[in-house]
Amino acid sequence: MLSSIVVAFLGFSRLVLAECPAIPNLNSYNVTSLPNPFAFLSGAHVVTTEDWACRQDEVGTLLQRDELGLMPGDPKSVTASFSASNNTLTITVVDQGTSITFAPTITFPTGGSSASGPYPAIIGIGGISIPQPSGVAVINFNNDEIAQQNDQTSRGQGLFFEMFGADATAGAMMAWAWAVRRIMDALDKTPGTGIDITRVAVSGCSRNGKGALVAGAFEPRIVLTIPQESGSGGTDTWRISDWLLAGGLDTQTASEIVQENVWFSPLFDQFANTSVNRLPFDHHQLLGLVAPRGLFAIDNLGYDWLGPESSYGALVAARTIWKTLGEETNMGFSQSANHTHCVFPSTQQAELDAFVDKFLFNKPTNTDIANTAGNYTIAVPDAMWAPWVPPLSLVKKRD
Ligand SMILES: *[C@@H]1O[C@H](CO)[C@@H](O)[C@H](O)[C@H]1NC(C)=O
Ligand SMILES: *[C@@H]1O[C@H](CO)[C@@H](O)[C@H](O)[C@H]1NC(C)=O
Ligand SMILES: *[C@@H]1O[C@H](CO)[C@@H](O)[C@H](O)[C@H]1NC(C)=O
Ligand SMILES: *[C@@H]1O[C@H](CO)[C@@H](O)[C@H](O)[C@H]1NC(C)=O
Ligand SMILES: *[C@@H]1O[C@H](CO)[C@@H](O)[C@H](O)[C@H]1NC(C)=O
Repeated sequence: MLSSIVVAFLGFSRLVLAECPAIPNLNSYNVTSLPNPFAFLSGAHVVTTEDWACRQDEVGTLLQRDELGLMPGDPKSVTASFSASNNTLTITVVDQGTSITFAPTITFPTGGSSASGPYPAIIGIGGISIPQPSGVAVINFNNDEIAQQNDQTSRGQGLFFEMFGADATAGAMMAWAWAVRRIMDALDKTPGTGIDITRVAVSGCSRNGKGALVAGAFEPRIVLTIPQESGSGGTDTWRISDWLLAGGLDTQTASEIVQENVWFSPLFDQFANTSVNRLPFDHHQLLGLVAPRGLFAIDNLGYDWLGPESSYGALVAARTIWKTLGEETNMGFSQSANHTHCVFPSTQQAELDAFVDKFLFNKPTNTDIANTAGNYTIAVPDAMWAPWVPPLSLVKKRD
């Protein structure tokens, strides 16, 4: 029963979800606080693990419908070949009567090669901005080739749109997440890559950190998601970012971000242009799509534009999801003091290492990490932002 729900979530098909409640069409939705992750849009509460699978599916569906655009279903075919001479994984995807090819390169640990693997790996959205961990390979994914992100003129540009049409609803981030899924398909079926597909993480910084979060949320084979300084549209919530701007901090908001670039679906404009309170979700729930898998968010307090307090609110609210699922320490965050954007400070190294050791080396390490150098007070429950109480735990099965 549960497995049929999980499979359906991976395929984003609602047809087989007879057990899940239908998603009501609430055009009048207008909520100033962060929506309760543990209540369906209908108002019904999440009580069982099966309810939670349905709720995750609901949130994944709503995020696609109102913000990120549709993740296409599995393609007709994915074929790949790996060249050990240039460490290139050449991936060809066939679907929609067309074919596209892209070719991530793999950077093996110093002194290593595909032959000395298998290694765990981090898929770097546009490369990584954290130090390459010892013993871990990096899969360098040129996301701009899949979906451009220069400015508004990038809408519908890139290999993804050659396949699905320039009018596909997906924004650039959903297109990248689709390509990350194809990288996982390719690793899964290609011998000799030197990569252990059961130990693959995803990371990226800033705009590519937003992309890393979306990829981790929509690709369940990723075991560790590491968004770095992802700001608005990443680990920030739309609602708290609006509030920060209203309070005088020059923080990026939804209404600004949709003017700047094409990371989101055009379907998001109707919310960004009016009020984000109309969104039946916020980004603590995008984070929650990763649960109970590993997630470590890295933030920087040095830039108001990144809205670190907004990220803090999202992370604190999201961590209650992992806690309810009995896996609180699979999710952590570190908000370090002031430093140059996307230059990883050594003060966060031990925290990052703990997550890498746990999820990429299966070592028992202490990942109970929820650190901020900010002086933020948002908590759960919180009268303003989180007027809800998470269930202590979920019951296994409904009678
Ligand atoms: C949304 O709710 C606020 C009060 O919380 C109200 O001022 C506003 O008019 C409402 N907007 C819509 C479109 O209903
Ligand atoms: C890598 O090498 C293979 C053959 O060994 C070749 O077909 C491919 O074009 C090369 N890729 C790059 C990016 O150089
Ligand atoms: C949102 O606002 C922008 C700028 O005013 C406009 O170009 C766009 O058409 C609007 N979109 C929607 C759906 O309201
Ligand atoms: C970060 O440092 C810059 C330059 O020293 C300074 O202008 C800014 O106020 C600092 N921000 C914080 C949050 O400490
Ligand atoms: C947090 O509060 C401490 C003590 O008042 C202060 O020294 C520090 O600068 C504050 N940090 C931030 C990021 O505002």
